[in-house]
Amino acid sequence: MCGIVGIVQRDTNKIGKNIIDSLKKLEYRGYDSVGVATIENNQVKVSKEEGKITEVIEKIQLDDLHGKIAIGHTRWATHGPPSKENSHPHIDCKNEIAVIHNGIIENFQSLKKDLVTQGHVFQSETDTEIIPHLIEQFIQKEQMALKDAIIHTIRKLEGTFAICVLSSLDPDKIYCAKRDSPLVIGINSDRMFCASDIPAFLSHTRQVVLLHDDEFVTLSHDGYEIINFTNMKRVERRPYIVSWKPEMAQKGGFPHFMLKEIHEQSSSLADYIRIKQPSLHKISEKVYDAKKVFLLAAGTAHYSTLTGENLIRKYAKKPCTSIIASEYDSISPLIDEDTIVLPVSQSGETMDTIMAIKDAKKSGAKILSAVNVIGSSITRHSDDVLYLYAGPEIGVAATKTYTAQTLSMWDIGLEIGRISGELGNNEYDEARKLYNKIPSVVKQTIVRSEALANRIASWFAEKNSSFYLGRGLNLQTAKEGALKMKEIAYIHSEAYPAGESKHGPIALIEEDYPVVFIAPKDQTHKRIIGNIMEMKARGATTIGVIEKGDKEIGELVKWKMEIPKGYSEMITTIPYVIPMQLLAYYTAVKKGLDPSYPRNLSKSVTVL
Ligand code: M6R
Repeated sequence: MCGIVGIVQRDTNKIGKNIIDSLKKLEYRGYDSVGVATIENNQVKVSKEEGKITEVIEKIQLDDLHGKIAIGHTRWATHGPPSKENSHPHIDCKNEIAVIHNGIIENFQSLKKDLVTQGHVFQSETDTEIIPHLIEQFIQKEQMALKDAIIHTIRKLEGTFAICVLSSLDPDKIYCAKRDSPLVIGINSDRMFCASDIPAFLSHTRQVVLLHDDEFVTLSHDGYEIINFTNMKRVERRPYIVSWKPEMAQKGGFPHFMLKEIHEQSSSLADYIRIKQPSLHKISEKVYDAKKVFLLAAGTAHYSTLTGENLIRKYAKKPCTSIIASEYDSISPLIDEDTIVLPVSQSGETMDTIMAIKDAKKSGAKILSAVNVIGSSITRHSDDVLYLYAGPEIGVAATKTYTAQTLSMWDIGLEIGRISGELGNNEYDEARKLYNKIPSVVKQTIVRSEALANRIASWFAEKNSSFYLGRGLNLQTAKEGALKMKEIAYIHSEAYPAGESKHGPIALIEEDYPVVFIAPKDQTHKRIIGNIMEMKARGATTIGVIEKGDKEIGELVKWKMEIPKGYSEMITTIPYVIPMQLLAYYTAVKKGLDPSYPRNLSKSVTVL
């Protein structure tokens, strides 16, 4: 939900600039306020303010801070609205201990009550602020050293946290710990990092140490020491080299990360196809053999699992349900040792998904996941993982990871089709040929639809509400298209099964009301024509995402966004979403909005 980063370096060179550079890479995690703590002349110095990083550095000179050590935070408000007071870092009464936190401390109210009784004075409404005061309390009342006081404090915390602590009592070190919220270490010859995510330090190092739950780290400029804070055992973990390249976390000449990531889709999908993963066969076989299969995800990832649900039903010929992670309780009674739960996630850190996985594991289910971020929490809770290889995605609205997730669903679906024999050898080979062409179809679709999306956006930007209609597999494509428009252009957009639209939604149609149809030339084609006619007859302005050369629909709709021919029966769910990503992007731009950082949203929802 929030982004945290800490840096310990050998020299005092540009610590403020360094921490701000790293924080900018984490802004996708939250951007309602920013704060940094450093140590100058043996004193903790906290600088913080409400607003995005670029706004805040205009008001206070964050990038001018000095010292060898700094922690920084970019916030997505949970406890208390965005304000200077509620921004992190938070400090103790003596201004000796500064803390940044990502997560939620569930028992903060009772801890706060005790601390207030002991005379501690609080400045904010946050749950986080109890942490520096509790550390202070252990030091004062129990005469503990700083490190022991931090460990005793985190053992008292209930809920989820990744925290970093900096203190004038031990001015050369950062102490950090995690439970359920992400935290990674980056190692460079003259600088050590701890951060919520790898892009924070990717331009300095690709050497990464992944931290596990209940681990506590002492970070100094020349090393790191990990212990498990529940049993106090030392943990030996060597760094690994991440394959992501620094430029992947930069805009590369595009005005926004979102547009860059839309354009990256042909290469990210090609990467996924090129990297042959042994887990594909294992996962597909286990899904085929299982008695019950549930797919689990949130947001955009959920729409990709709707493709998976359809394919598993079709090729494994068994009931399979895709469930929204926060609604997991409704299927919990059905989970047992004969169940496969297949979570899909970009970040691998979505808290609703993690909590559902933990419950399913307790009931004996096997967890087979499809995840983008290697080493993330979901991968560690999984029995087997299919990686999405989409690279880092910074734009809050998922684009390249949606197509990668959907491609992974097709990959599993086709493999199950081969295993079950539902796809004969020839059919399977033909399907794989089409599948392998997806990256080039996506590329052509972007080239063909970008200018038109930009034009339609001028009209769409004036609208308050719209419908996205689809049938069959492409109902989920419509859902994903509508979600993009809502998320970044703030236009109410509702996706509906096209056939169902006359059972209610049609009542809202008036002159020039936008209706987007996802209408490939497949078995849904004829019936969707009827739905377009119904909408037009009531004054709607229609946009069709259609196959190139489809005159029947092309002549009916006001705007046609065309996809290359030959994909109508198979794998439409990937290219047909592209024009809608572009439409949402350009509509947001026309409205003067920043599509990469939509209001109120955070890329990884690491709270329940
Ligand atoms: O990291 P995840 O894939 O688990 O995230 C799930 C959702 O939070 C995410 O898809 C969200 O809906 C996107 N920002 C939508 O564009």
